[in-house]
Amino acid sequence: MIVGIKYTHDAGVAIINDDGELVGASELEKVNNNGRYTKMNSLSDIELLYRLLSVGGHRLSDQILSIDGWTGHNKNPASPNGTIENFNDFLVAGYQNLNVNKATYKGIRQTFFQNYESYSHLLGHVYGSYMTSPFSENGEKTFVLVSDGGILPTIFYVDPEEEYKVIPVKKISKMSASIYGVMGLYFGPFKNQDIIKGVQNHSEKNVLLAGYDVPGKLMSYIGLGAPSDYLVSEIAEANLNLDRVYNLEFFRGMYEHTLMKMICKIPDIEKYSDADILHSIHTYLEKFYIEEIRKVVPEGFNFIFTGGAALNIKWNSAIRARSGVGEMYVPPFPNDSGSAIGAACCSYVANGNPMRLTKWDVYCGVEFNDNSPETDKFFEFMSPYDLGKFIAIEI
Ligand SMILES: [Fe+2]
Repeated sequence: MIVGIKYTHDAGVAIINDDGELVGASELEKVNNNGRYTKMNSLSDIELLYRLLSVGGHRLSDQILSIDGWTGHNKNPASPNGTIENFNDFLVAGYQNLNVNKATYKGIRQTFFQNYESYSHLLGHVYGSYMTSPFSENGEKTFVLVSDGGILPTIFYVDPEEEYKVIPVKKISKMSASIYGVMGLYFGPFKNQDIIKGVQNHSEKNVLLAGYDVPGKLMSYIGLGAPSDYLVSEIAEANLNLDRVYNLEFFRGMYEHTLMKMICKIPDIEKYSDADILHSIHTYLEKFYIEEIRKVVPEGFNFIFTGGAALNIKWNSAIRARSGVGEMYVPPFPNDSGSAIGAACCSYVANGNPMRLTKWDVYCGVEFNDNSPETDKFFEFMSPYDLGKFIAIEI
């Protein structure tokens, strides 16, 4: 069996058996009442999920372990004394490299890991998405757009019959999907002047981006406003101007912040509400994605949208309706909640298997515990309507 492991945020474990079935997958946040986006803190977190996904008493140390690649974690050699307290000591594949040739690393804690493999985070998104798509059942070719907070949105061509199965076709922007959180630092209910000042001073490299929870909330919040044609065309011009001159050597998030500062200077922008401005940025990005897909993907061709940006259901619907693609697939785990599955899929193919799963479904996670609180005087049942009213008025 192959055990895929994602140890950074949205940590999880996924298991593919020797018959090519995804027999188990879960994230750490789904157990022990852990918080959203929980990352692994120790190797025992892997053992915990593996045990909860129980697959017939097979020992974890007997399986092929495949670890999701990550940025900055690919330079340190394994600790020579075989001990590890921190996952940052892993030697793993990088974030974006495209080579799925078998990559093995010597174990770090010898009593636990014998050997493990690692494939880039980007490849995990592509392989995990393709291998769960209906296209993989018949080995169909497809285009895949990957866009997340750390990847510059890129369209790939996937042909499962070729030796090089994933070919980059076009990097469509120097702006990552982190723009959707960054825009919330400038407009709307999550404005954060401290972060913006940190960017100006070039001093806060680690807090440049908004939290993982902000984009989804903004996607709802923009419903309070309406896009403005004027703003959309001004934002388009600002982005094209910036794209022409921007040097990608700057650190992560800088493009997005620079664009936001340009948007803040659009003439008469103060006449629009924050919700209107955010909705206009959303609409511009949507149009931009659709135009770029139209340029690359032939009319009617299979298409997959994946990476955290594909959590944006409004974009998904717009792309499906207006980009001219044929069948379109967005996995139910387009963000990093699917990275353990992706790592396992990469390893499955690298070990000589076809680029498809024989079986999978969304119900192969851990069993939920029935640990809901006892109802007593402290609890009161509410209808969804009353709950919404309570949140809107009281919180
Ligand atoms: Fe990702």
